[in-house]
Amino acid sequence: MADDLCFFIKESLIVTPKKSPLVLRMIVLIFAMVCGIYIFSICLKQVSTNTEDGFSSVEVVERPCEPPNVEAWEKPYVHYPKPKTFKRAECACSPVRLFAILSTQRSGSGWFETLLNNHTNISSNGEIFSVKVRRSNISSIVETLDNIYNLDWFTSASKNECTAAVGLKWMLNQGLMHHHEEIVEYFRAKGVSAIFLFRRNLLRRMVSILANSYDQNAKLLNGTHKSHVHSADEAEILARYKPTINATLLIPNLKQVDDMATKALEYFKSTRHIVLYYEDIIKNRTKLNDVQDFLRVPRIDLTSHQVKIHKGPLSDQVENWVDIQKALQGTPYESFLHQDY
Ligand SMILES: *[C@@H]1O[C@H](CO)[C@@H](O)[C@H](O)[C@H]1NC(C)=O
Ligand SMILES: *[C@@H]1O[C@H](CO)[C@@H](O)[C@H](O)[C@H]1NC(C)=O
Ligand SMILES: *[C@@H]1O[C@H](CO)[C@@H](O)[C@H](O)[C@H]1NC(C)=O
Ligand SMILES: *[C@@H]1O[C@H](CO)[C@@H](O)[C@H](O)[C@H]1NC(C)=O
Ligand SMILES: *[C@@H]1O[C@H](CO)[C@@H](O)[C@H](O)[C@H]1NC(C)=O
Ligand SMILES: *[C@@H]1O[C@H](CO)[C@@H](O)[C@H](O)[C@H]1NC(C)=O
Repeated sequence: MADDLCFFIKESLIVTPKKSPLVLRMIVLIFAMVCGIYIFSICLKQVSTNTEDGFSSVEVVERPCEPPNVEAWEKPYVHYPKPKTFKRAECACSPVRLFAILSTQRSGSGWFETLLNNHTNISSNGEIFSVKVRRSNISSIVETLDNIYNLDWFTSASKNECTAAVGLKWMLNQGLMHHHEEIVEYFRAKGVSAIFLFRRNLLRRMVSILANSYDQNAKLLNGTHKSHVHSADEAEILARYKPTINATLLIPNLKQVDDMATKALEYFKSTRHIVLYYEDIIKNRTKLNDVQDFLRVPRIDLTSHQVKIHKGPLSDQVENWVDIQKALQGTPYESFLHQDY
């Protein structure tokens, strides 16, 4: 329509050439320019509405990160978070992987997490879902996870801009089994990998639970309850307490924990995962290389200052050892009586 209008004006001007040709030419020129600007502005408007409708955001257009040098299957696991609370600075274009350590209480996950956090590029933010409101429903869980994986969650473990792997420690009984369907779907959609950490010797785990729960009231270390210690002296004090295990409930309890681990592996079998055992890491620290490879971070030697509390034969650590021996003999759990760690 704009073109028609210009053409019409041009025509009507050209049919009266008798007047001053210079002035007429100037008028034609000015009209042509005005029409040109008008058409150009319409085109601009159309271009800008197109970009608003589309999915490309201005930031992506401005600073595209180099596509990562990864195989096709790995693409969904690579992220470039844009935290709300800070700029990733020189690491803005280094990829970030998301993970969750899925474990059970007293299975060495605290120790394992301090080892991971000794890596310059790993931020594992602790047992975030030990706080009940954060796991009260799936929307709180998702909101919390989104914050963590967007690097907007701050703990002493946060490495901020140069984090290459970010995650948390999550106990199976902290909403994970209950909301497993939604969480598996979240892990799939967001590309989260799972690190299962279990303890093989569930009898030793039971001793650790009973002792830890006793200490919650007894507070053996000068009136403070500690679940993890950093010196041999402290470990020795805590290990002096010998729990009595209810022999009747022993087998059902062990079976229940065993079943929960099996069920968790079944639920999360479609999630990219690795399964680790506490005992294997204690015996062979090179297992930690497998974890670093799994998280695609450079391999380094990882250290922790935590000290193991219960050491030596189990017979020294349980008050009613004879009953326990009797209860387990001839059952699938008999080997727990003899295994180290
Ligand atoms: C890892 O542990 C070593 C030895 O304790 C320590 O010097 C280093 O600062 C730790 N690194 C991180 C990132 O915590
Ligand atoms: C989920 O839990 C949070 C925190 O307890 C609460 O504020 C929110 O209303 C709940 N949402 C739904 C959908 O129940
Ligand atoms: C690890 O962190 C360092 C700085 O702390 C950074 O220079 C390096 O690029 C990071 N590595 C990865 C793989 O992100
Ligand atoms: C407990 O107190 C004793 C002395 O009263 C002190 O030597 C020891 O370091 C304290 N231990 C802790 C864990 O605070
Ligand atoms: C073991 O637990 C059962 C069931 O709770 C209880 O009836 C029994 O008295 C307990 N035995 C001991 C020795 O505490
Ligand atoms: C230690 O673990 C690594 C990695 O999983 C494995 O290749 C190696 O054979 C193990 N070494 C021993 C002595 O078990």
